[in-house]
Amino acid sequence: MGLLEASNVVAGYGQTEILHGVSITVEPGEMVTIIGPNGCGKSTLMKAIVGLVKVRSGIVRFQDTDISGYPPEQIVQTRLCYVPQSNNVFASLSIRENLEMGAFTRDDDYRSRIEEMFRLFPDLAMQPGRKAGTLSGGQRQMLAIARAMMLDPVLLLLDEPSAGLSPAMMGTVFERIREVNQAGVALLLVEQNAREALRMSDRGYILVAGENRLEDAGKDLLSNPEVARLYLGG
Ligand SMILES: Nc1ncnc2c1ncn2[C@@H]1O[C@H](COP(=O)(O)OP(=O)(O)O)[C@@H](O)[C@H]1O
Ligand SMILES: [Mg+2]
Repeated sequence: MGLLEASNVVAGYGQTEILHGVSITVEPGEMVTIIGPNGCGKSTLMKAIVGLVKVRSGIVRFQDTDISGYPPEQIVQTRLCYVPQSNNVFASLSIRENLEMGAFTRDDDYRSRIEEMFRLFPDLAMQPGRKAGTLSGGQRQMLAIARAMMLDPVLLLLDEPSAGLSPAMMGTVFERIREVNQAGVALLLVEQNAREALRMSDRGYILVAGENRLEDAGKDLLSNPEVARLYLGG
């Protein structure tokens, strides 16, 4: 059994159905990327998995437990954590305070975990008192990931972590993401920078108009000429 199994997920907003029965799996320790055109439902799928959008039919299983219908705060407790694309840090709080907020449901001593995050994200360790609102886009993304990591996730969902970053910053953020995965955390990634993301991913899914289009190993999607032409910009 996979770590995460989303089967035939139907979800949407109001009268509008966006996901028409999407299925994806993530195995323990895997890195999996979802790509697809704007508006095809990638973010909606992530929100459905973490309970922010209702699963109308289908099922989401995490570690063999049916979590479809769980509220978001209960899903976080299962160590499935999610970093949304924007508004993912508290701008008026410092780096350290953001990490403390990330740990607010932990009742053990989380200070050593903060130090671990500073080792994993040296870019954050230099000025722990700096307000998140004054950070660069890349530093903010790293803080958002580190904050989610405070709860020691088994699976981390990242929605477009490299969006809007300079190429250099994008490289740094991808490098940190790879290190998070190497530390044993399974990752499900949505990315517009599809080539870079697929290069470091075990598998990828292409989603089109709320349906599965294609699923393959990351390197096989990259070397598929039709995929390159249609979804990777040639
Ligand atoms: N809160 C919302 N209310 C209504 N429609 C939404 C909402 N969020 C997204 N949508 C619509 O759902 C569709 C899929 O959006 P989204 O999942 O964000 O796509 P993607 O992440 O693949 O770009 C789009 O047509 C979008 O306009
Ligand atoms: Mg999106």
